[in-house]
Amino acid sequence: TPDIFVFQSGFPAMVNDRLLRAARGEEVDQVPVWVMRQAGRYLPEFREVRAKHDFFTMCQTPSLSCQVTLQPLDRFPLDAAIIFSDILVIPQALGMEVEMRPGEGPVFPSPLRGPEDLSLLAPPGDACTKLKYVFDALTLTRKELKGKATLIGFSGAPWTIMAYMIEGKGSKTMSNAKGWLYKHREASHKLLKIITDATVHYLVGQVQAGAQVLQVFESHAEHLGPQLFREFALPYLKQICDQVKEQVQRLGLPDIPMIVFPKGGHYALKDVAALKYEVIGIDWTVDPTLARELVGPTKVLQGNLDPCALYSDQKSIDAAVKDMVQKFGRRRYIANLGHGMYPDMNPDHLAAFVQAVQKHSKD
Ligand code: CP3
Repeated sequence: TPDIFVFQSGFPAMVNDRLLRAARGEEVDQVPVWVMRQAGRYLPEFREVRAKHDFFTMCQTPSLSCQVTLQPLDRFPLDAAIIFSDILVIPQALGMEVEMRPGEGPVFPSPLRGPEDLSLLAPPGDACTKLKYVFDALTLTRKELKGKATLIGFSGAPWTIMAYMIEGKGSKTMSNAKGWLYKHREASHKLLKIITDATVHYLVGQVQAGAQVLQVFESHAEHLGPQLFREFALPYLKQICDQVKEQVQRLGLPDIPMIVFPKGGHYALKDVAALKYEVIGIDWTVDPTLARELVGPTKVLQGNLDPCALYSDQKSIDAAVKDMVQKFGRRRYIANLGHGMYPDMNPDHLAAFVQAVQKHSKD
């Protein structure tokens, strides 16, 4: 529609499109870099805002979300900003209650008990009207970024979201959620489909609002293994990518690069590479050379330094980054950690990481 065209073209011109170029497989002057959880508690300026507001209130207040999204970019020369939000806003939009408890993480007071509880969920098509605050945060942040970095929107992948909806909190074994896959196969597919439909609406809405790249977090891939992944994760990751791309095209918007991050899913990299995601996130357990072998020459890879390497001294960080960049190569590569920042990390060590990427990847 004309409205959307005016909207998208009304954003500031890109001054730095390094990440966008790399995601499309184009040549870059240096490897683009950002890190998962770059906005978070390791930054004193984040803790200051967080001390005054509840976590989900921050997500729901566009000015606060924008403020903390931009905080790491004021400190480090990052090539992307990832919008401050959480993957669990989808279960919330489907009608479930989620609390963020300090020291404990996310908790669902009433997780799904069995297939009969699926009837309690809101229709997936309606879910996104409740997430307008994310769209507003994206639009505001895209303007405030002034083209200096690429804006990333995101969602959780259906299996990862399903696992939280059933477990109700983090779990070492995911045995309740995996129990569904074996006991309630049909209901599991029904739930995964509901989450997929809501997620497609949500991601397309993020693009309309100004997101320039989308990342889908399959953070709990490690619990599945090749067979379960093929039945319960892969088809839904495929639907999300195919449908988002199709709908974005139908709206007359430019094609959007998509990143899939199957954390702990080394066993599934070949299958994942058959999907249309341009970029595949690699965790630190996979050697870059093996990752490239598994996904083939055309995919863009993202990752994968062990986040805990940031506990070492700055000289060791530099050496580790040099090795990582050499192994991945300068083309079709986005530098990142193999998972997110932890709250006790030293911001200066992240600075060393970013600086090392730039130093070792300039042409
Ligand atoms: O900087 C960014 O990466 C953007 C914001 C972002 C958050 N969560 C903010 C957050 C993103 C992209 C996420 C995604 C997310 N959320 C994932 C996928 C990525 C991953 O880690 O695998 C998952 C599994 C969640 C669910 C979630 N949210 C958990 C398990 C936790 C608790 C862990 C922790 O670090 O405490 C959260 C909380 C959360 N999400 C925080 C932040 C900044 C910390 C909470 C706080 O401030 O109290």
